[in-house]
Amino acid sequence: MSALTVLAPAKINLSLDVTGRREDGYHLLHTVMQSVSLADEVFVEYDRRGNGIILLCSQPGIPLDARNTCFRAAEQYLAVARLNGGVRIFLDKRIPEAAGLAGGSSDAAAVLFALSALCGKPLKPTQLQAIAARVGADVPFCLTGGTVLCTGIGEILTPLPAWPGLPLILVKPDFGLATPWVFKQLDLTGLGRRPDQTAVLRAVSGQNLDSLADATANVLESVSLPAYPELARIKSALQASGASLTLMSGSGPTLFGIYPSLGQRTAALASLPAALPAGCRIFAAETVDHGPRQTNG
Ligand code: C5P
Repeated sequence: MSALTVLAPAKINLSLDVTGRREDGYHLLHTVMQSVSLADEVFVEYDRRGNGIILLCSQPGIPLDARNTCFRAAEQYLAVARLNGGVRIFLDKRIPEAAGLAGGSSDAAAVLFALSALCGKPLKPTQLQAIAARVGADVPFCLTGGTVLCTGIGEILTPLPAWPGLPLILVKPDFGLATPWVFKQLDLTGLGRRPDQTAVLRAVSGQNLDSLADATANVLESVSLPAYPELARIKSALQASGASLTLMSGSGPTLFGIYPSLGQRTAALASLPAALPAGCRIFAAETVDHGPRQTNG
């Protein structure tokens, strides 16, 4: 029996454009994903004499069967690696769910990472990425982590220069948004402000936050901002608190602000609570240059 505890980082989208829709309903994306330090802790145990998959979670209300991405990731790993053993997973949730932060996708990536290390039957990186893509569109990015241009439905990865250490604040309102609902509402003829893809890539490669702020956008804001007026209030509050760049992450509803310095982030953490709608959760974090990794403890 062997076990590993893995940190599963959340992600934000430094830009998000939708360029079309596939026949199966999935949308074609051009998005720069960025791992951040807010992370779930995923304990994974593999017992080659055991049997089946057991999933437990610190947070009530999270499904613990095949509806959970972690469960499906473990199931598929065992099938592809032709293993008969048992897997026990304990999820210590810190990333809010239905938030646009890829919490569930990152947990699944952490399970794949852990099983590769534990089973004595590591899969090839291409096999792991194929399993990841079957579990969810964001899982391939989560397995890789860092700063990555994601195209296709999110599964085609082009790594960009790592951009760790940017101070940011995440604000999660007191409701969640289901990704399928957001994409279903999206009107491809009325996306509003779209990112300048070339300028975004230039700004990210040159690590120029102001140029990125000028060039970027998240077209999914065209769905969420009109539907939930408090999101515009949160965005204004983040802007007024000194953020250089403020955007919704993924399909939302979490908004983030990136600050030019740690000092400005500290000042914003003091001023923001009074400016936000009731019930918002605030997280301070930094960008990081990695995906799942073993905890020190
Ligand atoms: O792949 P995942 O299960 O994370 O996606 C959840 C849902 O989000 C999909 O069923 C689909 O409705 C929507 N989606 C999409 N286009 C993408 C990614 C997700 O329409 N590129």
